[in-house]
Amino acid sequence: MNAIVEGNALQAQVRPAARYTWQAIVLHWLLAVLIIGMLVLGYSLEDIPRNTPARGFYVNLHKSFGVLALVLVLVRLGWRFSHKPPPTAPGMPRWQAVAAAWSHGLLYLCILLQPLSGYLGSSFGKYGVKFFGIELPNWGWEDKALRGFFGEVHEAVGFTLAVLIAIHVLAALKHLLIDRDQVFQRMMPGGRRS
Ligand code: HEM
Repeated sequence: MNAIVEGNALQAQVRPAARYTWQAIVLHWLLAVLIIGMLVLGYSLEDIPRNTPARGFYVNLHKSFGVLALVLVLVRLGWRFSHKPPPTAPGMPRWQAVAAAWSHGLLYLCILLQPLSGYLGSSFGKYGVKFFGIELPNWGWEDKALRGFFGEVHEAVGFTLAVLIAIHVLAALKHLLIDRDQVFQRMMPGGRRS
């Protein structure tokens, strides 16, 4: 048993963790900034009084950046399904690899469902969706019940997404500060690909 642990540690020292491609790194960080910004903006909307010009401005801003997020998520999913990610870092315990696979899968699901539910909810509302001033096609009609349903989905997925992002950041920091196993660096710009 000790020999296996020592073997894994030695392997980790000799063979550095393979890095993500620059395309995967750019998409990851663009979406990280956009989605965290959208969560902050989404929750801040609650503090802006209804039927004021400020509310209209910030809700439209939220919708516009949300549509941009949806497009980038679709590009990212396309990239992910057509390119193999690097293998798990050498020496990583199996439970961690399984937990990472599940949490990454859930993150992908939530980042897709969140802008989709926002767009669908707005399509069943009376204001529709403008993308930085350009009117987008409505997928629905004015329907209070459906708008309410997608609004609830948007709220629940938004909360789940915030929790998953917090876990994701804590796990990344554990790799950087405690495990020191190069897993954090795999997704950082700069550095050489192995
Ligand atoms: C990654 C993308 C997105 C994130 C992270 C996000 C996040 C949020 C959050 C956290 C809220 C507050 C929910 C609550 O009430 O607790 C919210 C509200 C809302 N979002 Fe999004 N959203 C995204 C995309 C979109 C898109 C694409 C649209 C529509 C095109 C949209 C439309 C709305 C609307 C209409 C509200 C309710 C505003 C109100 O209270 O009147 N969202 N969003």
